[in-house]
Amino acid sequence: MTTLFVLSLLIAFLSRTRTEAAATYLAHVCPNTTTFTANSTYQSNLNHLLGSLTSNATRTTGFYNTTASAGNSVDTVYGLFLCRGDLSPDACRDCAADATKDVVDRCPNEKVAVAWYDECMLRYSNQDIFSSMVTDPSILMWNTQNISEQNQFALLVRTTMNDLASGVSNLGPGAKKFGTKEANFTALQTLYTLAQCTADLSGSDCNRCLQIAISNVVGCCGGKLGARALFPSCNARFEIYPFYQSVATVPPPPGTVSTPKGKDKISAVTIIAIVVPISVFGVLCVMGYCFLTRRARKKYNAVQEENAANDITTVESLQFDLATIETATNMFSDDNKLGEGGFGVVYKGILPINGQEIAVKRLSRTSGQGKEEFKTEVILVAKLQHRNLVRLLGFCLQGEEKILVYEFVPNKSLDYFLYEPASQEQLNWSSRYNIIGGIARGLLYLHEDSRLRIIHRDLKASNILLDGDMNAKISNFGMAKIFGVDQTQGNTSRVVGTFDYMAPEYAMHGQFSVKSDVYSFGVLILEIISGKKVSSFYQSNGDEDLLSYAWKQWTDETPLKVLDPNLGNSYSREQVIRCLHIGVLSIQDDPADRPTMASIVLMLSSQSISMPSPLRQPAYFLHSRIEEKPLVEQESDQSTSKSVPLSVNEASITELYPR
Ligand SMILES: *[C@@H]1O[C@H](CO)[C@@H](O)[C@H](O)[C@H]1NC(C)=O
Ligand SMILES: *[C@@H]1O[C@H](CO)[C@@H](O)[C@H](O)[C@H]1NC(C)=O
Ligand SMILES: *[C@@H]1O[C@H](CO)[C@@H](O)[C@H](O)[C@H]1NC(C)=O
Ligand SMILES: *[C@@H]1O[C@H](CO)[C@@H](O)[C@H](O)[C@H]1NC(C)=O
Ligand SMILES: *[C@@H]1O[C@H](CO)[C@@H](O)[C@H](O)[C@H]1NC(C)=O
Ligand SMILES: *[C@@H]1O[C@H](CO)[C@@H](O)[C@H](O)[C@H]1NC(C)=O
Repeated sequence: MTTLFVLSLLIAFLSRTRTEAAATYLAHVCPNTTTFTANSTYQSNLNHLLGSLTSNATRTTGFYNTTASAGNSVDTVYGLFLCRGDLSPDACRDCAADATKDVVDRCPNEKVAVAWYDECMLRYSNQDIFSSMVTDPSILMWNTQNISEQNQFALLVRTTMNDLASGVSNLGPGAKKFGTKEANFTALQTLYTLAQCTADLSGSDCNRCLQIAISNVVGCCGGKLGARALFPSCNARFEIYPFYQSVATVPPPPGTVSTPKGKDKISAVTIIAIVVPISVFGVLCVMGYCFLTRRARKKYNAVQEENAANDITTVESLQFDLATIETATNMFSDDNKLGEGGFGVVYKGILPINGQEIAVKRLSRTSGQGKEEFKTEVILVAKLQHRNLVRLLGFCLQGEEKILVYEFVPNKSLDYFLYEPASQEQLNWSSRYNIIGGIARGLLYLHEDSRLRIIHRDLKASNILLDGDMNAKISNFGMAKIFGVDQTQGNTSRVVGTFDYMAPEYAMHGQFSVKSDVYSFGVLILEIISGKKVSSFYQSNGDEDLLSYAWKQWTDETPLKVLDPNLGNSYSREQVIRCLHIGVLSIQDDPADRPTMASIVLMLSSQSISMPSPLRQPAYFLHSRIEEKPLVEQESDQSTSKSVPLSVNEASITELYPR
């Protein structure tokens, strides 16, 4: 239905003098093919709708949808508006008020319209437009100035925005689907990115929409100083100056953001070009503008309050009633039992209110934690939300019961797919590669992107769950905090984790860091490539263990020998070699020689990035010999042979500490 036409590219200059304007116009599309006549029912419905949108604009989500349906059903108008997520309710209302006036000037008798402003978007139609993902019409705008180091910058834009997109689309139903993310490019230049979906979209629709938006902005303009994609359902933007109000980051003083020379010119002039896909009947009105974006950035004092009010992660929203949990799990019935581990028994449940499937971990060990501390830590962990992490939905704290409620992940854990002969075929190379990428992004989030720095400390195949689309979700992070294992030092006398995956410095000296997680990740990659369990490899391969075998094939330049024979010929040689390379880099003995998760994610996402050569043969091969230690028996993968569909019950400890 939708055809992409490059309709026109029109450039004009517009000096922004109205800095007090609440709605900074960007673009609009309203095909003159479906029109209404003056004083018709449609018009009166439309007026009513616009009034209602304006008066509801202060809602906390900055999103509102409504219908006006007086008279015949063909006269029903469906409308919505969306404010940029960082705006205060006042600013949002100002934009909605301006936009509803502005749009009737621009589209005096068109039935269908969408108009984008810097601060909000307004859209209406004679058809039901709610809850469906639409990327048409679309507007692409960019700054014509090139950045130096274009490829590197584009890469940074892509990885930053992809992370942002998964964060945004993972926000729960009803939440404001909005996020911003910053990344350092050079000492002087910081990348600022923003992504937002309309709140009526599902998480997966939001993600699809943002992926399209991001590939558009990166594809066209990844080497430019800034660009944005505007769709009816979502928008994405990046710049090298802060263009949103952020509660988390204080905007740097003027002059430190842009390149030292010509700062004003660079960030002040944005050229917009437009690509408009149009629907059925054809012709659309299109405009392009070149405008000054340098403007007095308004201070919205209410932002802070507003965000606090909107923070969905409050004790109330996370607390489950014991009765609800009992109903959900059929009184913790054995039929609902998914597995049992060091922390307690895990049950599958179905929430009575909305039918949502959950995994309920009924904690057995009494921790030294008081109730308030327990709550505080649960809230912290529940804030960790990423596509590649199993989400903690809440908790129940009643009487002696301490219960954690997780999202239910339908598939079994990665070790099941890797090692059960019946399921190995389901794991073709492209899903393996996707899983590796997912684990890497989830781990990067834990290490760098969340508000806390989290070291997982027990990354292993049985702690990777797979959803219905075989996306990896890391489970069992944050347990140390919840359990009150009070270890905020990078050194511990009680080593927890699974020996086979353990970095030498951690296993021997109890020293853990993000780099010990990288080591475990390296072992995991080698298992995924080879389809062999690190713990059992040496039994079938004489004296050699998986790590030294992989190292040997790497140095002998016969990397494909490591590959799981079950894969046959369907794999990408380039990807296998890249993954093996990352694997051998990650299992280096010296933590300093291992890459960070950030560089691993870059290596996985780019063909052109240069990767260092691994330095030394890993010397730490002893682990497979000492695996009979009681510690390992207690902690090792219990779900492998029991086909436990969900292994959030695994005994494992994760470390968190505030940055
Ligand atoms: C619709 O717009 C096009 C181009 O802007 C114009 O040529 C055409 O006359 C318009 N049609 C009507 C019915 O106004
Ligand atoms: C629409 O109504 C207004 C006021 O009610 C009137 O002034 C105008 O002439 C009407 N227009 C048409 C086309 O009937
Ligand atoms: C939305 O606006 C309409 C019209 O002004 C009003 O009647 C309605 O109560 C508002 N809804 C909410 C939830 O504020
Ligand atoms: C708003 O959209 C939802 C779907 O996202 C729909 O169910 C609801 O009826 C809409 N509200 C109104 C007032 O039309
Ligand atoms: C910007 O970079 C592109 C290639 O990436 C190049 O073709 C173009 O000439 C550059 N423009 C300027 C103004 O340097
Ligand atoms: C950017 O660098 C500064 C110090 O130069 C640091 O404080 C800040 O955390 C960095 N930001 C990101 C997103 O890495």
